[in-house]
Amino acid sequence: MARSVTEWVKVTDDVSIVARDSGEVWFHTPNGAGDGLDPFTTPMMGVGATGSTIRLLDGAINLGFAKIEKRSACPEPTLAAYALALIGAYHTSVDTPRNLRRAAKRFEELGRPEVAAYLEVRAREETGHDRLALKDLRALGVPGERIVANFMPEGIAPLCKHFDELCVESYPIGCIGYSYCLERIAALKQPADIEKVQALCPEGSDATRFLRSHSCLGSEVSHVEETIEFVASLPANDRIKVVQETYQSALIMAEGYNQELLKSEAEIIEQLERSIGEPLPSIAGSFRPAAGEKLGARPAA
Ligand SMILES: [Fe+2]
Ligand SMILES: [Fe+2]
Repeated sequence: MARSVTEWVKVTDDVSIVARDSGEVWFHTPNGAGDGLDPFTTPMMGVGATGSTIRLLDGAINLGFAKIEKRSACPEPTLAAYALALIGAYHTSVDTPRNLRRAAKRFEELGRPEVAAYLEVRAREETGHDRLALKDLRALGVPGERIVANFMPEGIAPLCKHFDELCVESYPIGCIGYSYCLERIAALKQPADIEKVQALCPEGSDATRFLRSHSCLGSEVSHVEETIEFVASLPANDRIKVVQETYQSALIMAEGYNQELLKSEAEIIEQLERSIGEPLPSIAGSFRPAAGEKLGARPAA
């Protein structure tokens, strides 16, 4: 009988994620005794398996998001917040093909054609996704090109910076962890989430192209499946780095989400209008804060 695969990765000073191909996953704190009895204090060296690799990757995302405040984790969508999310989606998509090709080229130089080929495919698949976000913005009556040229949401900027940096590393395997994090979270979006957003959009408009393709209905599902298989096939050192960067990306993403989700609708509208120097009636609609009203966080669901 084949033995079950166990994989583990240290993601912080005191937490390792341990996962078995047979289904268990847990966060492990080293016993600190240095008695050689803790098998997870030394880096894993064995082969991976899809069942344990997916649990490591998803464990890394869960750990990174554990810090997000419950009250802001699931706010009611508003049109302004959706427009803001589309602007963020544009910025996290626009450089993806170029960045992935840069990393692919590096793996070609390093004599790792299988990693280069995987990244090339990903780069091709992600091409044009920035344009979906722009089309959706336009469908909302927002001048997409102009607004993204002038404005990047503060919570998104560190995420883009992190991806840029990962892709130019001398050994850029971590970019796979970043991509996995974003795609896995997108693939969790359900038809009901899309319907909620659609209900906010102007009658007859098609402003959910990006959301649909980055949800359980779109290509993200197969991207996630292919990535899990590919990561599971990598040598242990690569899997370790991919899981660590999945965790780092989730941390940065959770922090950015918190920052953006805590903005009130009035604050978002003000930011959007300021960035293009004109009112956005299609977004602001009837929403206007009363004079002197204090801007607070949007109500959480
Ligand atoms: Fe995409
Ligand atoms: Fe994707």
